[in-house]
Amino acid sequence: MTPTRSDFPRDFHFGAATSAYQVEGAVYEDGRGASMWDSFAHHSGCIADASTGDVACDHYHRMEDDVALMQRLGHTAYRFSVAWPRVLPQGRGEVNPRGLDFYDRLVDLLLEQGIAPYATLYHWDLPLALHDQGGWLQRDTCHAFAEFAGVVARRLGDRVHSYATLNEPRCSATVGYLEGRHAPGLMDRRKALLAAHHLLLAHGLALPVLRSFTTTAKIGVVLDVKPYYPADKLAATAQAVRRADGVFNRWFLDPLLLGHYPQDIWEAEGACVPQLSATALEHDLRTIAQPIDSLGLNYYTRGVVVHEPTRPFPHVREVPVEGAQHTTMGWEIYPQGLYDMLVRIARDYPALDLFIAENGAALRDTVANGAVHDPVRVQYLQSHLGAVARARQDGVPLSAYIAWSLLDNFEWGKGYTQRFGLCHVDYATQVRTPKASALWLRDFITQQPAAA
Ligand code: FCB
Repeated sequence: MTPTRSDFPRDFHFGAATSAYQVEGAVYEDGRGASMWDSFAHHSGCIADASTGDVACDHYHRMEDDVALMQRLGHTAYRFSVAWPRVLPQGRGEVNPRGLDFYDRLVDLLLEQGIAPYATLYHWDLPLALHDQGGWLQRDTCHAFAEFAGVVARRLGDRVHSYATLNEPRCSATVGYLEGRHAPGLMDRRKALLAAHHLLLAHGLALPVLRSFTTTAKIGVVLDVKPYYPADKLAATAQAVRRADGVFNRWFLDPLLLGHYPQDIWEAEGACVPQLSATALEHDLRTIAQPIDSLGLNYYTRGVVVHEPTRPFPHVREVPVEGAQHTTMGWEIYPQGLYDMLVRIARDYPALDLFIAENGAALRDTVANGAVHDPVRVQYLQSHLGAVARARQDGVPLSAYIAWSLLDNFEWGKGYTQRFGLCHVDYATQVRTPKASALWLRDFITQQPAAA
């Protein structure tokens, strides 16, 4: 369906997201400590263009202008992350007041402009000091995270509209500890599952801490979700779909929202699962599954799979879809997958407020005569907003659509080769140019009446 503003209620939020390491730069300034991403980007040889986040979009120095930009684009929400090593340079202990001041000012500026702050506490920039002590393989890091959450929430309190503990624990654990493409660059299935467990535990330990500092903010977590579809009608393919979904989606959704790991995957992972006594596991799961107020979802693409026994668990291979359109990340554009995922999550994990925390497309964008013509992104936004509108009509409780990203930025292992922004960034001059898609979204948000 072609969505209009009137498909969404007045208080529905529209905006864009960024994360600290991807946009801030200023990595050596005002007392910021190092994170494992500083170290990974500088030493691993794993960044496609050998770049780092040292300067990125220089958002740390241009924050006022960037908030003004959001305002001009009609945004009513901004999702950002708080750099843990800016606030606690050693990961725990001594607080760096200048780090906290930055986010304090950001939140005030957003509120002055009528933009709801959505703060993410962990978007992958683990303080290097904690990483050196074992990072997410160490249970103690979960407690350090809860302390960090408390330091931030004590300062920002009720001014934040929504706190997310973690961004994409799946990606942190799988891409960082199993595929080795992200920091810390490990390739070990046991470690990945242990890191995943500790990330979930950190989320759970932070929840009561966050609640003690705010009565109004919505508290939750952001997950990346990806629907899987069979490439053919074979029974083995149907089982492959179930396993792929189990590893990517249910491994995180189930413990957080149902209080247990998915039994089929737990059994299939065998000795790779966290080695805890039944009592200890049960205890952790009670912590992990405490109620949350909202769940943020990051949606980019789907997977079409077949059974592939020669591959490691979950024994699946993604197959290319004929005629499909892809972004420069190689991700298929498939808005129906967003609708399917939303309906499925609302069915399997009911009574939970959902919002889209990331959704967007990387394309080959260039500036010509001061403008960026990006019709594919306009179409992407329109079709995905259509999926959100349709899901709402079908009863899925959704409260915001937050696009990835406000700015072109440091796309992790791909460096600056991928442009996801609503605004183009010229990295030599730091000039921001709203792309045609940003203007389309602005008109969508501001030029039509909202539903009553
Ligand atoms: C997500 C990340 C985000 C960005 C997008 C493209 O997995 O959360 O930081 O890199 O992908």
